Amino acid sequence: MRFLRITTATMPHKFQLLAVMAFGLAVLFIEKQIQDMDESREVLERTVARHEVAEAEQWRQRGEVGGPASSPLHRADGGDEDDLVVIYNRVPKTASTSFTNIAYDLCGKNRFHVLHINTSKNNPVLSLQDQVRFVHNVTSWREMKPAFYHGHVAYLDFSKFGVAGQPRYINVVRDPVERLVSYYYFLRFGDDYRPGLRRRKQGDKKTFDQCVATGGPDCAPEKLWLQIPFFCGHHSECWNVGSAWALQKAKANLVNQYLLVGLTEELEDFVMILEAALPRFFKGATKLYRTGKKSHLRKTTEKKPPATETISKLHRSDIWKMENDFYQFAQEQFHFVRAHAVREKDGELLVLPQSFFYEKIYPKVS
Ligand SMILES: *[C@@H]1O[C@H](CO)[C@@H](O)[C@H](O)[C@H]1NC(C)=O
Ligand SMILES: *[C@@H]1O[C@H](CO)[C@@H](O)[C@H](O)[C@H]1NC(C)=O
Repeated sequence: MRFLRITTATMPHKFQLLAVMAFGLAVLFIEKQIQDMDESREVLERTVARHEVAEAEQWRQRGEVGGPASSPLHRADGGDEDDLVVIYNRVPKTASTSFTNIAYDLCGKNRFHVLHINTSKNNPVLSLQDQVRFVHNVTSWREMKPAFYHGHVAYLDFSKFGVAGQPRYINVVRDPVERLVSYYYFLRFGDDYRPGLRRRKQGDKKTFDQCVATGGPDCAPEKLWLQIPFFCGHHSECWNVGSAWALQKAKANLVNQYLLVGLTEELEDFVMILEAALPRFFKGATKLYRTGKKSHLRKTTEKKPPATETISKLHRSDIWKMENDFYQFAQEQFHFVRAHAVREKDGELLVLPQSFFYEKIYPKVS
């Protein structure tokens, strides 16, 4: 600026005017150049982006989902599957720990995260504000994806919270009386999983038979009402013991909202089908389950099977009839899925390979 001031001061007015005009023109010219450069940079960026998309498509078509691992633009594998969230809203005492341990054993090798949802006092119903927090958190927490969440939480419908991306729900159900008996002894004697932990009813030596005979609260038919409300969800009516609406809702959710619901009694088949349907998480699960069966099994200590009179007394209650109806429904659905997913060969179950393909694809690519 100093130089400009000195030179203009020594110049006649006419030249000064010319100099200002020339300067103005120069500025306009430079501005135009910058604008052109911006435009050509945008064109270049669009071209690069288009090229990347085309390349990703090619990788996908060749079956190498995601492309080369070395390129930072492509994730090592999975593609869309790296956004997967699986929620296992486990019902207490359905052998859920055995299955959850498989997820913990696989998460390192299959590269996904496992998170336990610890609800205060094990309350399966979340407050409305916690529902909003949970749904928002699960769907937007990128660093945790892909993720496997598990916890004793009732089914939560993500679709009414206005978020993009739905989790895949999975679960396991068990014969309702067996589940209750298991829970009864678990509260009194704990299990071999955390043997040191003091349980709520520890010291109470009463057997399940004695409890039912004397009409104790811990074995009352109302205590059977658990798998229905867990599948029914966060509606008031779900927790009204004996509600026919809750039973219908639980059944509808089981078939519409759950990717797969297995049975405690047939856990290995559940693991096998899950591995075939969700390999991103469960690749290697069946092998792990078979070899580590003993280490994955968690046994409630001192469990005595209930007497026939005890069972028939519980079977006379309407609540058992409904919970059993739900259990039978789940069983039938699982067997249907299994019949279409596996074949028996030499006494072993084998997962069926892909049995559909595409044809008559138009318009033809030249
Ligand atoms: C949940 O958290 C509480 C408080 O930290 C803890 O005492 C409890 O053991 C946890 N529950 C489970 C199942 O880990
Ligand atoms: C989800 O919650 C965790 C723990 O409360 C927090 O650390 C994380 O930042 C949250 N993520 C999002 C995306 O809200």
